Amino acid sequence: MDGTRVKPAGLYKGGFFRYFIFTMKKIALTGIKPTGMLHIGNYFGAIKPALELTREYDARYFIADYHALNTVKNPAELSAHIRQVAAGWLAAGLDPEKVIFYRQSSVPETFELTTILMAFTAKGLMNRAHAYKAAVQENTEKGDDPDAGINMGLFTYPVLMAADILLFDSDVVPVGKDQAQHVEMAQDIARAINFNYKAEVLRVPEVSVRENVAVVPGSDGRKMSKSYGNVIPLFAPEKELRKIIMRIVTNSQGVEEPKDPESSQIYQLYKLFSTPEELEALANRYRSGGMGWGEAKEALFQAANRELTPLRQRFEEIMADPAGLDTILARGAEKARPIAARTVARLRKAAGID
Ligand code: ADP
Ligand code: TRP
Repeated sequence: MDGTRVKPAGLYKGGFFRYFIFTMKKIALTGIKPTGMLHIGNYFGAIKPALELTREYDARYFIADYHALNTVKNPAELSAHIRQVAAGWLAAGLDPEKVIFYRQSSVPETFELTTILMAFTAKGLMNRAHAYKAAVQENTEKGDDPDAGINMGLFTYPVLMAADILLFDSDVVPVGKDQAQHVEMAQDIARAINFNYKAEVLRVPEVSVRENVAVVPGSDGRKMSKSYGNVIPLFAPEKELRKIIMRIVTNSQGVEEPKDPESSQIYQLYKLFSTPEELEALANRYRSGGMGWGEAKEALFQAANRELTPLRQRFEEIMADPAGLDTILARGAEKARPIAARTVARLRKAAGID
C-alpha cells in the first residue's frame, strides 16, 4: 500500500544527505599576518587564489595578529593593520556566511594548543626554521651576537602556526613557497603526537604551494614586497594609484624603439588586469615601436583602476563601519571557537589532562 512508502523527509532534502555532503568537503585554512597595508602582490598571490578555493573547500581564513606582534610593536599601527587586512579580505569578496573568518587572537584555544604542541616540538626543529636561520645568519655576518634582536615569538613562530592549522582539522593549507616549511613542521608535530598516543588525535595537513601563481613585480622590477618599498597598495585612492604607476622604473629606450613586453614590469602588471585581447593589443604596441613608456603606464593605470575601483569602494564602506566589521569578526570567532575547543579537549583527554 502507498502508506508504506512515506517519504523519509528528514533523510532527503534537509537531513542526512546534506549533512553527508557537508562533512565530505575538505577543509582549507590559511592566515595573513597584519604587518602592513595589503598590496596587489598579496591580492593576486594569496587572497584571490584563497577565495577561489572556497568553492571547493570549507574554508577557515584568519588574521594572524599574534604572529604580527613579533614585529609590529606600535599598538596604533598593529590595530590599524588588523582592521585593514580584515576589511581587505571582505572587500576582495570573502563571504563570511560561507567562510569562517576570524582573528587568531579571538580563539584563545590557539594558545592552549601551542603550549601542548611545545611539549612535542624538538628545539632542533625550530633551529632549522628558515626565518630564524636567516636572522641568525644576518647577525653573524654583521659580527653581532647570533641571537641579537630575535625574540622567542620569532623562534617559536612555527609552533603557533602549527596550532593555527591543527586546531581546525585542516586538510590543506594554501601558502606561498616561503611558508611551506612551516606547514611541514606542523605535519611533523602532529605526527609526533599521533605516534605518542597511538591514535589519530590530530589531522596531518597537506601543504598546497601556490606554484602557478605569478610573482607580482613591484615598481622597481623586483618582487613586490613591503620590505622593498616597491608596492602598489591594493586600496590606494585613484590619484595615488596613478602617481605610483607613473613612477614605475623603466629603461631609457626612446618612443620609436620597439620594446620587449615580457621583460617590462608594466606589461607583467598589465597581464593581471587586462582581457586577453587587451593584452595582445598592448604587446603589439610594444613590439611595433612608436609607444612611449608613458602610454604603457596609462594603459596599466586604466586597467588597474577599472578592476580596483569596486574593491576600493567596498573597502572604504567596510572601514567606515567599524562596528559592522567587529560584528563579522566576532561571529567568525563564535563559529571557530567550538571547533577549536573540541580539538583541545580531544588532545587533553589523550594526554591525560582532562
Ligand atoms: P610582503 O612580502 O609584502 O611582506 P607577505 O609576506 O606579508 O608580503 O605576504 C602575504 C602573502 O602574499 C603571502 O602568501 C605571499 O606569498 C603573498 N605575496 C606577497 N608578495 C607577493 C608577490 N609579489 N607576488 C605574489 N604573491 C605575493
Ligand atoms: N606565517 C604566515 C605568513 O607569514 C601566516 C600564517 C600564520 C599562516 N598562521 C598560519 C598561514 C596558518 C597558513 C596557516 O604568511
